[in-house]
Amino acid sequence: MKIAINTGGGDAPGLNAVICAVVQGADRLGWEVHGIRDGYEGIYRAADYPDGGVVRLTPAMVERIAHLGGTILGTTNRGNPFARPTPQPDGTRRETDRSDELLAGLSAHGFDALVAVGGDGSLGIAHRLAAKGLRVVGVPKTIDNDLDATALTFGFQTAVAFATECVDRLHSTAQAHGRVMVVEVMGRYAGWIALNTGVAGGADAILVPEIPYDLGVVAEHLKERVARRGYALVVVAEGAAPKGGAVSVKARELGRAEQLGGAGERIAAELGGLTGRETRAVVLGHLLRGGSPVAVDRLLGLNFGAAAVRALAEGKRDVMVALDPPRVSYVPLADAVARTRLVPLDADSVLTARTLGIAFGD
Ligand code: F6P
Repeated sequence: MKIAINTGGGDAPGLNAVICAVVQGADRLGWEVHGIRDGYEGIYRAADYPDGGVVRLTPAMVERIAHLGGTILGTTNRGNPFARPTPQPDGTRRETDRSDELLAGLSAHGFDALVAVGGDGSLGIAHRLAAKGLRVVGVPKTIDNDLDATALTFGFQTAVAFATECVDRLHSTAQAHGRVMVVEVMGRYAGWIALNTGVAGGADAILVPEIPYDLGVVAEHLKERVARRGYALVVVAEGAAPKGGAVSVKARELGRAEQLGGAGERIAAELGGLTGRETRAVVLGHLLRGGSPVAVDRLLGLNFGAAAVRALAEGKRDVMVALDPPRVSYVPLADAVARTRLVPLDADSVLTARTLGIAFGD
C-alpha cells in the first residue's frame, strides 16, 4: 500500500502525533506514507514546492515530532476542492468544483488511500471525495471540540489548559487595578473552550453561543462581584451573541468559512458603560492553537493515528476514527460531519458553573 496523509483546517496541538503514529504504523505493515503539503495544495500547486508538494515520510523523520505543536505538513483553511477560488476570464474569482483535478493528481501519485486529518470542513470534504471513489479514513481534529461523533478531539485540552493559565494570570492584574477583564477565546459556534476555561479559571461570568446573553444581567452580577471583591473577570466565546442579536464576524472571504472575532472588545466596551468600571479586553485567539500538546492530546493523536492505519488494514473506507470511551472506534464519515456538538444546557460544567455562582447572562 502507498498511502497519503494531509492536515486541513486550523492547526491543533496533536496533529504531529497523528502523523507520527500513521507513519510508524504503516511502516510496520510494509506500507509507504507520503505527506501532502498544506491540505491539498501540494497536489494543486506542486510546482510551487521545492519538494513537489508531496513528501515521502519515513519513521526516522517522525519519531520525535509527537510533542511538537503545529503540523510538519502545513495546513490551510482555504483548501476546499469543491469550492476552490478560481480566476475567471473576466478577472474575477469564483468558487469552482475542482475535485476531479485533485483525484487525478492523487491517482497520478499511485496512492491507494488517504488519511485526512481535519475538522468538520475537512472531514466533509473527505466524505465527498470518498463518494467519488477515493478510499479515505478521517481523523478528527479541532481545538473547538465541536464534532458530535467523537467524545473528544485533540487540541482542546491544550487550549483549555493554556487559556486557564491566562485567566489565572489575569485575576491578579484585574485585582490590582480594580478592573473588569474580558477574555475572548476561540471555539467558533460552540462554547466548550469558554465554558471549561471559565469554570476552571474561576470567572465571574461566562458567555457562550449556546446561551444568548443579556448584558444588563451580566453587568448587575459583575457590579455585585466588584462590590464584594474589587474586580471581575468574564470569559467570552468568540461565537457568543446577545439575545436576539448576531455573532461578531471579523471577515468574510471567498473559499473559506466566515472569520469570527470582535465579541470581547464589543462586550468590554458595553460592560464598561454598564458597570462604570474600567474595563479591558484580552483576545487569546491563536495562542490557544500554539505550543506543545498536553499529554492527553498527544495520546489522543497517537491513538487516532494508529487506529487510522488499523482501519485501512481492515479494509475500512469512508469512516472517521472517534473516541468512544474507553476505546477508539469508527463512525461513518457522513455521521461524523452531520452535527456540530454544542454545549448542552444541562452539561455538568454548566450546572457546576451555576452552583459556583458564575453568571451566563440568561
Ligand atoms: O476551528 C479552529 C479555529 O481556531 C476556531 O476556533 C477559529 O474561529 C478559527 O479556527 C480561526 O481560524 P483562522 O486561523 O483562519 O483565524
